[in-house]
Amino acid sequence: MEIKKVGVVGCGLMGHGIVQVAAQAGYEVVVVETEQGYLDKGLSRIEKSLAKLAAKSVEKGKATAEDAEAGRAASWGRITGSLDKQDLADCDLVCEAIIEDLEIKKALFAELGSICKPDTILASNTSSFPVSVMAEASGRADKFVGLHFFNPVQLMRLVEVVRTDATDPAVFAAAQGFGKSVGKAPVGCKDTPGFVVNRLLVPYMTQSLLMLERGDATAADIDAAMQFGCGHPMGPITLTDYVGLDTTLYILEGWVERYPNEPAFAIPEILRQKVAEGKLGRKTGEGFYKWDGDKKS
Ligand SMILES: NC(=O)c1ccc[n+]([C@@H]2O[C@H](COP(=O)([O-])OP(=O)(O)OC[C@H]3O[C@@H](n4cnc5c(N)ncnc54)[C@H](O)[C@@H]3O)[C@@H](O)[C@H]2O)c1
Repeated sequence: MEIKKVGVVGCGLMGHGIVQVAAQAGYEVVVVETEQGYLDKGLSRIEKSLAKLAAKSVEKGKATAEDAEAGRAASWGRITGSLDKQDLADCDLVCEAIIEDLEIKKALFAELGSICKPDTILASNTSSFPVSVMAEASGRADKFVGLHFFNPVQLMRLVEVVRTDATDPAVFAAAQGFGKSVGKAPVGCKDTPGFVVNRLLVPYMTQSLLMLERGDATAADIDAAMQFGCGHPMGPITLTDYVGLDTTLYILEGWVERYPNEPAFAIPEILRQKVAEGKLGRKTGEGFYKWDGDKKS
């Protein structure tokens, strides 16, 4: 099951990163978007990021200017942008990174299932939906995995490789091999809510909000406790502001609906209130903290 040509659907925050790391690892990559403007924006992010990396490797003495430029040009040359999904037909692996909407993802995979050659592996980068539902929609559940990359893809080492009951073990192995080949540390996981990271992280964030709601400690003290007591780079409430309160609520609502008896999936009232007030975290300038761009004000 050799992977040579990779397709990516969606060239947004996650998609452009997946395209870039795959091209840097030597794969031919086709990336498909819905509109030329979105495609141009994503491709220009990749172009800038590749140029920055080349400049850095020269600066650090890791490569000569000539070699760095040759590497940059080769990676860039392996990437093709398209607005036509038919261009994904001969890819060996197609990874989806479009908006988090299950119906839209199911429709996309149904289409990809009929467009792509029979042995193409299909993968979703979903953070919160059951992989098995998309696998079924694709009509080739045995060739379907989750490939959950982390943001920013260029820097974060982890990729969770998710297998459903129907995933062919050879497909799962090929997907893990792909993760490794793009410089990531792949971890395997069954198709469970939140996979490994979010299953641990989101309930942890929830517990910190429940603490705040009960008045056990202030937001600043809860964050300081986890930063200075556990060595975390940021506390759970700052993290919630970073992720986005709407995104956090959306993930929790989906889980509570699907797993009403799982006590780890509670929704703090304080989270609902903030979202209703439009205080969504760093991106709107206010969540549990006030923000001035990337900094708490
Ligand atoms: N943002 C994160 O931190 C993060 C982390 C891990 C996984 N994810 C998952 O990755 C996926 C993408 O998230 P994102 O943050 O990159 O979103 P984004 O909004 O930045 O990018 C999505 C892109 O997909 C395009 N798109 C939408 N529908 C399409 C279609 N039918 N065909 C082709 N392109 C289409 C949009 O134009 C947009 O450019 C989601 O499933 C999300 O849950 C996100």
